[in-house]
Amino acid sequence: MKHEIETDTGYFDSAACDLSAFTALIDQTANPSTVPNADDIQKNVPIYDMSRLRPSLENKERRRAIMAEWAHVLLSDAGVLVLRGAYEDTVVLDEATGIYERIIATEKLATGSGGDHFAASGSNDRIWNSLQKLCEEAPEVFLRYFANTSIAAACEAWLGPNYQMTAQINLVHPGGVAQQAHRDYHLGFQTAETSAEYPAHVHDLSPALTLQGAVAHCDMPVESGPTKLLPFSQLFRAGYAAWRRDDFRAVFEERHIQLPLTKGDALFFNPALFHAAGANRSSDVHRMANLLQVSSAFGRAMETVDRVKMCKLLYPHAMAAHQNGTLGVSNLKAAIAAAAEGYSFPTNLDRDPPKSGLAPETQQALFLRALAAGLDVHEFEAILDESRVKQSA
Ligand SMILES: [Fe+2]
Repeated sequence: MKHEIETDTGYFDSAACDLSAFTALIDQTANPSTVPNADDIQKNVPIYDMSRLRPSLENKERRRAIMAEWAHVLLSDAGVLVLRGAYEDTVVLDEATGIYERIIATEKLATGSGGDHFAASGSNDRIWNSLQKLCEEAPEVFLRYFANTSIAAACEAWLGPNYQMTAQINLVHPGGVAQQAHRDYHLGFQTAETSAEYPAHVHDLSPALTLQGAVAHCDMPVESGPTKLLPFSQLFRAGYAAWRRDDFRAVFEERHIQLPLTKGDALFFNPALFHAAGANRSSDVHRMANLLQVSSAFGRAMETVDRVKMCKLLYPHAMAAHQNGTLGVSNLKAAIAAAAEGYSFPTNLDRDPPKSGLAPETQQALFLRALAAGLDVHEFEAILDESRVKQSA
């Protein structure tokens, strides 16, 4: 991590944050030579055309070079990148949009606030844990939605393998207001007082534990309010102590950028980047994004997800896709990675001792082994249940 400002005390203090050091960072200009795989740079943000780059993700060395470039952008350059056409075929997005609209309507009825999805001007709708809910409503759609090698590569680029996918739908209607500038999970979701209790090096580590992403479910012209972003702002080491200050927020409002997105584009950014949802000033764009919050295998995700249940729901569809070849191996692996737990710990080491002296088999490894061995759904479910019992305290 870059260390632009140091701290004498080992802690960051909001009052000591230097606005001129911050503006010096955001005054930078993206250097095209550091992003050789990008097709364009707009407002300092590298744009990758996935229709051109997608085949390269099937080559191990090329994939690794692209991931290293993306990690560099997220860590040391603009802190944000766009994958144009992350979805080659947007039909699955439309299918998911329809399901999410129904979930919003159902949840509104359940809370007694009426079932009209296209709610009054100025409101917005949110689906928490849209990951599990999509899988429960339509596992076959989930499988195709997350069988996305571009998204998988972006997650792996920042977090390494075995990341934990979570997702939330945000639907902002015309008239919807903007958010204030902020940083994201982990430290961005702590109060200023709590955040200040964590030593400086933990502020450096927090952004490495999650990746923020957004999948555009519709075209998002700037007037519809795509995310306001401040390139290079993730580089400000004391940013978790600074983002609530009025002077930093004023700089954000003055200097932020917005990029229009097209249905099927994906945006990824370092969670330490100063950002905010934009105001929807359009008359007719109901701006739907699936916000991906992806966690490192080594961190705690914000949402609980019933991954055993999701694996059971997905397995027959994954088996069918595997057997009839409708999804390639890397696509199938991407979908399974979004659903199944990829890490062996925590577990109960009395009941679930390490295999071969290392880690017990993960849900993901089990899922792939079951597919390869052609286990039927009952055998697979029995092993999953058994492993859940072994892992429990
Ligand atoms: Fe955010």
